[in-house]
Amino acid sequence: MKHLLNQQVKSLQISGIRQILNKVSTNPDIINLTLGQPDFTTPGYIKEAGKQAMDDHYTGYTTNAGIYELRKAASHYVNNLYGLDYNPDNEILVTTGASEAIDIALRTILTPGSEVLLPAPVYSGYEPIIQLCNATPVFMDTGQQNFKLTADLIEKHITDKTRCIILSSPSNPIGIVYTKEEIFEIGELLKQKDIFVLSDEVYSELTYDGREHVSIATVPGMKDKTIVINALSKSHAMTGWRIGFSFAPAYLTEEMLKVHSFCAVCANSISQVAAINALESGMETEEIKLMKNSYKERRDYVYQRFIDMGLHVVKPEGAFYIFPQIPDIGLNSTEFIDQMIADAKVAAIPGNAFSPFGEGYFRISYAQSMENLRTAMDRIEKWMKQLPS
Ligand SMILES: Cc1ncc(COP(=O)(O)O)c(C=O)c1O
Repeated sequence: MKHLLNQQVKSLQISGIRQILNKVSTNPDIINLTLGQPDFTTPGYIKEAGKQAMDDHYTGYTTNAGIYELRKAASHYVNNLYGLDYNPDNEILVTTGASEAIDIALRTILTPGSEVLLPAPVYSGYEPIIQLCNATPVFMDTGQQNFKLTADLIEKHITDKTRCIILSSPSNPIGIVYTKEEIFEIGELLKQKDIFVLSDEVYSELTYDGREHVSIATVPGMKDKTIVINALSKSHAMTGWRIGFSFAPAYLTEEMLKVHSFCAVCANSISQVAAINALESGMETEEIKLMKNSYKERRDYVYQRFIDMGLHVVKPEGAFYIFPQIPDIGLNSTEFIDQMIADAKVAAIPGNAFSPFGEGYFRISYAQSMENLRTAMDRIEKWMKQLPS
């Protein structure tokens, strides 16, 4: 029967991140810096709201788009923080994490043969969905320009088949954050084009050094063609609760809602009630401030350690990843990480997991305790010293 399976699905690779994780997760001697998963648990007040939701019998289906009060809270939240303006009645969907929002957005706008532009290196969650839609991912190599897209680079890749461009700020795997000027320059180009923008903003709360998060949907003329994706997964240490959002104009939301209602019906009801509490409590609670300050402290630490080791690395300004260049020792990124796992007992992700343009780099997630990070950096430094130069 195997030959009857969908070839598109059969040809998908499991993500490079999961491949490494599967290799190392059962070995307690290895420090695992692979996953984009906060080491913090969800703040207590959100957990309490979840428990209360069960006691209050929020155990059935909700409306497809999500509990109205949650959509209202989401609308206020993105308005307060980022100046976004979305109507909870018909422009917001609550989804099963950002992943489902990305899936339903791409399935709503892509047709076979259409092209999707991606900044590369890029998060590995988009390409498989594009392939399942029989559309074509087109990578734009940002390696020569500090890993940032520019209007010029985008323009070079636009064809009459381009249907969508994916933007992500702060970015995974590099942690770059676009400035307002950079976002507006890109917006000025895209507002003249019939191209949708999928703006993945799941790390929007996690910016450092006073960096402001700017959404491309705030560029005049862009809201009508932009789907903003967000989630509580990273900002509130809620990866397992599976709450994400899409913010998009009504004509798009209406169509995405159909796809969502047939694949997920609704997001988890208990998580939705807890999410109301998370959003209404804002970003200034002690628990949230502690997480954000810790990520910044860890970012400073790992960045300095890599600089001291002589590695080329862009200083991340957001998210919780760092993406150093592999020194020129004749190893590709898979070989480098395999050896690092075997000899240094530290697991990271080879850059080629983030498109072929990530070759020559590796990614570390610093959403880990300082103690683990210190030991991991000591091990990497010691191991690298004895590598042939
Ligand atoms: C850029 C980016 N978008 C989306 C996701 C998926 O988020 P969620 O867990 O909310 O589905 C991730 C997870 O690592 C991510 O890094």
